[in-house]
Formats: sequence, C-alpha cells, structure tokens
Amino acid sequence: MSLIPEDFIQELLGRVDIVEVVGRAVQLKKAGTNYKGLCPFHSEKSASFTVSPSKQFYHCFGCGAHGSAIGFLMEHSGMSFPDAVRELARDAGMELPQQEADEGEQRRAAEQRSHKARLREVLQQAEAFYRERLRASPRAIDYLKGRGLSGRSAARYGLGYAPEDWQGLARVFPNYEAELLLQSGLVVARDAQGQTLEPAQAAGAAVARRYDRLRDRITFPIRNAQGEIIGFGGRVLDRGEPKYINSPETELFHKGEELYGLFEARQAIQRHGQVLVVEGYLDVIALAQHGVEHAVATLGTACTPEHVRKLFRYCAQIVFSFDGDAAGRRAAARAMQAALPALSDERSVKFLFLPAEHDPDSFVRELGADAFEREIARARPLSVFLLDHVADGLALDTAEGRAQAIARSRELLASIPESALKGQILHDLAQRLRTPADELRAALAMQAGRRAAAPANAASGGAGGGRGAGGNAGSGGPGGGAQGGYSRAKPAEPRMQRLSRPKVDHAHTALRILLAHPALWRDISAAQHDLLVAHPGSVGELARWLESYLDEHAEPTPSSVWEALRAEGLLEAAEALAPAELLERDASELQPDLRGALESIEMAWIKQRQQALAAEGLADPASRLEYQGLSLRLRELMRSLPRL
Ligand code: UTP
Ligand code: MN
Repeated sequence: MSLIPEDFIQELLGRVDIVEVVGRAVQLKKAGTNYKGLCPFHSEKSASFTVSPSKQFYHCFGCGAHGSAIGFLMEHSGMSFPDAVRELARDAGMELPQQEADEGEQRRAAEQRSHKARLREVLQQAEAFYRERLRASPRAIDYLKGRGLSGRSAARYGLGYAPEDWQGLARVFPNYEAELLLQSGLVVARDAQGQTLEPAQAAGAAVARRYDRLRDRITFPIRNAQGEIIGFGGRVLDRGEPKYINSPETELFHKGEELYGLFEARQAIQRHGQVLVVEGYLDVIALAQHGVEHAVATLGTACTPEHVRKLFRYCAQIVFSFDGDAAGRRAAARAMQAALPALSDERSVKFLFLPAEHDPDSFVRELGADAFEREIARARPLSVFLLDHVADGLALDTAEGRAQAIARSRELLASIPESALKGQILHDLAQRLRTPADELRAALAMQAGRRAAAPANAASGGAGGGRGAGGNAGSGGPGGGAQGGYSRAKPAEPRMQRLSRPKVDHAHTALRILLAHPALWRDISAAQHDLLVAHPGSVGELARWLESYLDEHAEPTPSSVWEALRAEGLLEAAEALAPAELLERDASELQPDLRGALESIEMAWIKQRQQALAAEGLADPASRLEYQGLSLRLRELMRSLPRL
C-alpha cells in the first residue's frame, strides 16, 4: 500500500510522543497516567478525550475518535498518510528511508538533501553578513529606531541591512558566480537581453549580469517552522519602489506555505490556543515587541489553504487581521475561501478589521497591546463575515438579489466540510435570504448537481458560477485545486457507523479485544485459535493478519498494530470492529471477556459439529470418538460458564 517500510513506521511511533503531538492542537491536562482534554473532533464541555502515553494512542469516549500520532495528524489536519509520516519523522529527526528507490534515485535524493543543506548554509552566511552591516550603518539603525523597534526585537528577528552595492555579497562569497547564490535567491541573474532568470531556469543559461537582489534595504530573514532560514524580505529605507522585495520561490522557500514569524510565535500560539495572521513583517515584530506574541504574516501573498492547514496544526483558532479598506476586505474574502475546507466544529476563524488609518503595527504602537487585544475579542466570526460577503452590494429585498446571493454562496458552502457549523451557516443564510432552509439547500444542491454533471474540466467551469460574486468566488482559484484534497478530512461518517453498529457477535468481541491488546493472543487455546483464523469474513482475515504480525513483533502496542493495519489496507475492517473503547481498559480486565467470547464461539461450533456428525449417522468409530470428545469439551465449557 505505502512505500514507507513498516519497520520505519514502528520506529517512528516509538520515537514520537503522542502527548506532544496532540498537545500542539489540544490543551491536555494530566489525569493519572493519561492526559485529558476537550475532544477536537466533536463539541464538548467536559473532557472525554484521552491520550495514553503508554499506549501511544488517543481515544475520545464521547465520539469514539481514536488512533496513533499518525492517525491524529491525518484526522485533525487532513494530511495524507505519507505527509503525516513525513511531518512526524521530521520532528523526530528521522530520515525517511528511500525504499524501493533504485540506486540512481537514492543518489539523487541524497544529492538534493545535501544541496538544500548548502543552500541553508549560504542563507545563514548572508544573514550574518546583513546583521553585521546593520551594526555598521547608522542610517539603517536610525530607520529601525524611527519605526519604534527595540534593539532586542531587531536581534530576535535577525534584522539586518543589505548595503547599497551591486555585489555586496561578494565580500562573503568570493566565488560570486556560484550557481548556489542564484539558487538561494540571494543573487539575481539576467541574460544578454536583460531578462531576469528565475533560480530554476538559471542553471546552464547564459548569464550576462549578476547582482545582489537586496540592495540598500532592511533585511528580514524568513525562517521555516524549524527555525532554519529559507529566504529574505527586504524593505527600502526611504521612499522607493517596490517597498518590499522577497526571495523568489526556491527549493527551500515556498511562499504559499510559509508564514513569517511562525518559528518565533510557536509557543505563544499554543499558549493562547490562537494565532493571529497579519499582513506585514513589521506588524509581526511590532506586535511581539508590545506583548502580542502570537502573530504571523503571510509573505506578500494571499493566504492559501496550505497556510490555514499549517496553522491549525498549532491551535484551533485563527484570527485574520486586515486593514479596514476595500483591499483589506478583498484579502479577507480570499483568506475565508482558503479557510473553508479546513473548518470543523472545534475550529474557529475570525476576521478583524482595523480602523482604516491603522495597520497592526501603527495600532499597537499608538494604542497599546490591551487595545489590540480588545479588537481581537471583537473580531467577526467567519459565519458572520461569510454572510456579509455573500450579501455585499446585493438588494436582498428583490428576488434577483437573493438569487445572486444563492449563486455566490454555492461554492463557498460546498467547500465547508459537513458539520454542525455548516448547518448553522445554512440556517443563518436562509434567514437572511428569507428562504426556508430546505428550499435553500435544494437550490444549492441543484446548482452543485449541475456542476457535478459537467465535463471533467468543470473545475475551471466552476469559476463561472462566481460571476455573481464579481469574480470573488471564482478567484478562490489558487486554493480551488487543492480543496478537493481536504474534503477527505470528514471524520463524522465512519464514527456514525461505529456508534450505530449492529449487535456484536462473540467473534467480533474476541477480535476487538485482541486488536486492542494483541499480547492476549498468546493466551488463547489452539482450538479457539483455529476457529478464529478460520472465521469467515473480516474477523478471520484480521485474525490471520494479527497472527502473522505477532510472529514478527515481540512487543506490539496498539499504535504500532494500528499503523501496520493501515499499511495492509485493513484499517477500515479493524475500525468497523470498534476496538477503541477497549483501549482504555487493561488487558487483565478484558481477559475474562475474551475468554467468554472465545468459549462461546467454541461451544457454538461444537454444537454445530455434533449436529453434522449426527446427521451423517455416526457410523464409523472415528466420528463416534470425535462426537464423544466434543461432548466432553462442551461439558467442560458449560461448567466454566457460571464464572463469566
Ligand atoms: P504593506 O504595504 O501593507 O506594508 O505590505 P507594511 O507591512 O505596512 O509595511 P511598512 O509598515 O510600510 O513597512 C504588507 C506586506 O506585503 C508585502 C510585504 O510582506 C509586506 O510586509 N509587500 C508589500 C510586498 O511583498 N511587496 C511590496 O511591495 C509591498
Ligand atoms: Mn505598516
């Protein structure tokens, strides 16, 4: 199923701490040997979500959600399995093995890794150079002071100064022609026609001229969440165009995924359970300097679904801050579109519009952190902003206006995963449009159905529906392609099935307990074992699998069993047996239940077998002997019954 070898998964699960992984998204409190918190998968007031460090498993007694650290990332962040593994491996400092890659591929991968390491090294050297140049430039220092920045803030964010020099970096990199400088984005190349060559195209092309991308600018190192420098932003000191220049897309820097200040803000974000998304480098720094430490900024781009997904890995609440002008509202609409696919009942997204004359930097400097916190508290919930956006400029007292509003809502609502929140938004929308809720649903479904019936390239056709929205809905385009991927993250359905499963039979019970406590397998008798592995359907299949798994794994934990099941494509079958609630009970507690279930299976089988033998007439001695043996065993089992 997956190319990631199983022993790697097992080692990974041994190294990561599920308490830490879940703790990034859920506030956990120690309760005995476990940790408890409010379940991120359903709404609740008292904590029924439990994380077990010893089992490396989480389980919610309220909604039945459960799984390993990998499963948590998949369900909570909507990541694919390989992405979740990659993410955890990175946190654990483990290299993903290149299984089944041929030698050439392995070599290429190794080369790419060391190439990236060299790029990081180059950027780090440049940062040191820029910082040193800042100390040597009274003009640059004055500029930062004039903007109210403390020396401590400048140091914390690694601010620097790129001198006014076409090839200033040649002082640090004597080989200025090195490809690496182009690939890092630090140096710009032009060909003989004066065309700029992107880092990706520059290799091998005829470069006529090279020069530093950032000249006479304040430099802002951009770090990834691990704190490694992946690019730079640069601001002019005086007036000048463009005001900011950022690194281009490179192997290290993807601005649609990275957020400025995330590394510095991580802990504060977790502490607040909230992240504030602003627009500018200096907004982040000024806010932090004034004590609002949980802010990050997009990097001169609209907020993408990847940004949102990344942020929801750290906390459940995102507050977007925008300037109060028309451009701010447009940016907010785009951020909303990026956030919709990641919504759930436990997450919240809010929009903060500052007074027109302010951005967060000027606001916090003038009015202080408390005033800014009050603005945050007043931020508009997404549900409200969405309705305002849909109704914007329309005359809702006319049928035409209401029809247009419905057309605008369609795409937006379609990207929200099924949830109570979605139901509430629909309800509010129906009221606002003075249309009965089921009529509205029907109207939305009708349009969605029309889209579904369209040819395969309907993704672009979908934007046509955005006409009514003045192109706004359609301009969700960049996210549009990726959105399909998020609708997978709908945990509601399988759980419903689990809760309403039919009465379980004994074979199911036995296997549920065995999956939760694989070590109990060793206690069961040979006859019961044979019955279990011969059982028809998924019970037998899972039992056979578990047996072979146990042959190879001396000390299975639920999380390792779970991930191995996933790798085999058996996870769904295992989930259907609902073993999760058993995880919280000790093996010793469940042992009698297991024995009872297995003995019931055995008794049922004995009776069946005896009937078959009797039907054949018990003519030969062998069958008579078998019959008697079965009777004996049956009596033995009956005697043990009262114990159960
Ligand atoms: P703003 O123009 O709102 O500037 O750009 P600002 O952050 O308030 O900057 P100061 O306070 O005048 O220094 C917001 C963000 O948009 C990106 C930058 O990331 C900037 O921080 N931007 C802006 C660019 O990438 N290029 C530009 O030319 C301007
Ligand atoms: Mn500003």
